Amino acid sequence: MSDLVSVRDLRVSFQLGKHKLVEAVRGVSFAVPENSTVALVGESGSGKSVSAMSIVRLLPENAIVDPASASSSAAPTCSVRRSSGCGGSAARTSRWCSRSR
Ligand SMILES: Nc1ncnc2c1ncn2[C@@H]1O[C@H](COP(=O)(O)OP(=O)(O)O)[C@@H](O)[C@H]1O
Ligand SMILES: [Mg+2]
Repeated sequence: MSDLVSVRDLRVSFQLGKHKLVEAVRGVSFAVPENSTVALVGESGSGKSVSAMSIVRLLPENAIVDPASASSSAAPTCSVRRSSGCGGSAARTSRWCSRSR
């Protein structure tokens, strides 16, 4: 069975001010197989929303996704994002883009 979504070693940090970087998600991996339901469970603040928003690329502007993080999705994910830098729109094998600012 193929995976609709696959996330490998996702790392997301947030830039807070000029000099402060906080790590919100550290090395999360999971997959959503076809015809199945996956629940992302964790305590408040553990990174569920940030992980989910990473997949659809709707993280806020101060989010920095580690370029080594990899995702693949059967659905177009980059097309909903307003920022530049994502490669391809129907991104079955795309990698997350890192955004420097
Ligand atoms: N825009 C943001 N700027 C800074 N930190 C954020 C931002 N959004 C989320 N965070 C931090 O990222 C961590 C994970 O948050 P979140 O994914 O919302 O947790 P959950 O959904 O599991 O409750 C938390 O420490 C939260 O404070
Ligand atoms: Mg949440």
